[in-house]
Amino acid sequence: MSEPQAFEVVATRSGVRAMLDRRTGEVMHPLSGPTEEPRSLYVRPSRLEERLGAAEPGSLVLLDVGLGAGSNAAAAWALSEARVACVRKLHIVSFDRTFAALELALAPEHRAAFGLTGTALAAGSRLLDHRQAEGANTVWRASPGELPSTLLDEPPASADIVYWDPFSPRANPGLWSVAAFTALRRLCRDGATVHTYSGATATRTALLLAGFDVGLGEVLPSGRQATVAATRLEDLERPLDRRWLERLSRSSAPFSPDAPADAFARIAGMPAFG
Ligand SMILES: C[S@@+](CC[C@H](N)C(=O)[O-])C[C@H]1O[C@@H](n2cnc3c(N)ncnc32)[C@H](O)[C@@H]1O
Repeated sequence: MSEPQAFEVVATRSGVRAMLDRRTGEVMHPLSGPTEEPRSLYVRPSRLEERLGAAEPGSLVLLDVGLGAGSNAAAAWALSEARVACVRKLHIVSFDRTFAALELALAPEHRAAFGLTGTALAAGSRLLDHRQAEGANTVWRASPGELPSTLLDEPPASADIVYWDPFSPRANPGLWSVAAFTALRRLCRDGATVHTYSGATATRTALLLAGFDVGLGEVLPSGRQATVAATRLEDLERPLDRRWLERLSRSSAPFSPDAPADAFARIAGMPAFG
């Protein structure tokens, strides 16, 4: 595990507080900060509230890949716990190799800036101490250890929503590979969606090669577009199309290093591009 000093709270260019990982030099939620970005990039696009209100059997399972300072999971927890009439329980599983960023974010002077307020504050503290927290409508469990191996501990076809938020492919290449997304695909049940900030072509092709359908996500403050993947094409609002495929043929960085040699032909033959 990293020491708490591995992380530092810094001010972003827009003036909000965010968590810096000193080892990689990367900042978590660098675009609009740890209270706004979890909602705009993950909670709203995943239609979490609507899906929790659906009369479906069993809990809705959310995989929070990259717990970090806990802001994505805290936003999901807060939404779930705010429901007066709970139709469906939310079960959050947070993956990370370290809890040091969460520990720092829970400090009294930082917690509000990271969305750790109200019941989410108590839940974050409990997760840190006991690796599990339980509320009226929500269970939050930690899966400590090294990704993507820890994905193998989860039951197949069990996840409904995934927030895929590791560091960038430069700092975290193994988590943007065909192998990592194939391990994730195994955990996704029919109707699952995956939400990530990355709009890189190689991220999208790795998701396609792992067996997901893939579409464009939210427009980021940088002007780039996030990515949404799904187990069913009909769940994508803006699926990648033939124009994207044409651009792929001209891309300078089309594939992750572990993509097969015939990756382009495989993708071109997918029904989404037919
Ligand atoms: C961008 S931060 C996540 C931010 C977080 N979602 C939040 O809301 O604060 C990425 C996290 O992924 C974790 N991580 C990166 N590579 C990992 C790996 N191979 N195994 C486990 N955790 C990893 C880092 O420790 C870091 O906490």
